[in-house]
Amino acid sequence: MPQLLQLDSSANRQTSVTRELTRLFADTWRRRGPGYTVVERDLHRDPVPHLADAELHYAPRLRVSGVAVDPAAEAVQTELVAEVAVADVVVIGAPMYNWSLPSTLKAWIDHVHVLGTTVPFDAPDQPFAGTPVVVISSRGLAYGPGDPDEGLDHTVPPLQQVLGTSLGMDVTVVTAEYTLASRIPALAPMNERSTASLDAARERVQRLAHDLGA
Ligand SMILES: Cc1cc2nc3c(=O)[nH]c(=O)nc-3n(C[C@H](O)[C@H](O)[C@H](O)COP(=O)(O)O)c2cc1C
Repeated sequence: MPQLLQLDSSANRQTSVTRELTRLFADTWRRRGPGYTVVERDLHRDPVPHLADAELHYAPRLRVSGVAVDPAAEAVQTELVAEVAVADVVVIGAPMYNWSLPSTLKAWIDHVHVLGTTVPFDAPDQPFAGTPVVVISSRGLAYGPGDPDEGLDHTVPPLQQVLGTSLGMDVTVVTAEYTLASRIPALAPMNERSTASLDAARERVQRLAHDLGA
């Protein structure tokens, strides 16, 4: 049965753009057929703890000998890694928070990026290799080529590095920009661009949810 893992991290439970888009992705996925299932993990509602121990960054065989890792903390990590391992497709809502990732999403990353388990270290372990992952990132302003804040997006690049380069997943990025245009009067001239960006993101999300993992 094709399974989608849906991760959300926005602290906005009412009008979140990333939540709207991950929900649209999941709904489109479900409509593909009765076997298309979704596992939802809301990292804001049910936050993953910070990584409890640096040793959890390493597979058990690579840990400093004699250092005991809390079994409960290890169980959290095992559950999160297993969730990705069984997913056919992953969709991640990744709003820009202070030019970077929501801390809830970062805590999840710190758990699933494990040297020698999910990342090659002394052996070619890369169990998530090839799994499609769609990163949906909304931001109040815009950070593309030619924009005043070009180069200041530290939300998407670390996700591409971790999920793509390091874990070997097949990363697609969808962005919605100028989401603050309707809230901040000084950004009113960007309203049209904001609407166009969101419309394009909706279309792209539906296409990806329809095509990926086939
Ligand atoms: C804590 C916080 C920090 C933010 N930092 C930035 C920022 O650095 N740059 C930016 O363009 N927008 C920033 N924003 C605006 C959000 O990126 C924007 O509202 C986005 O749509 C949030 O995603 P969401 O709609 O899914 O909640 C911030 C919003 C919050 C709540």
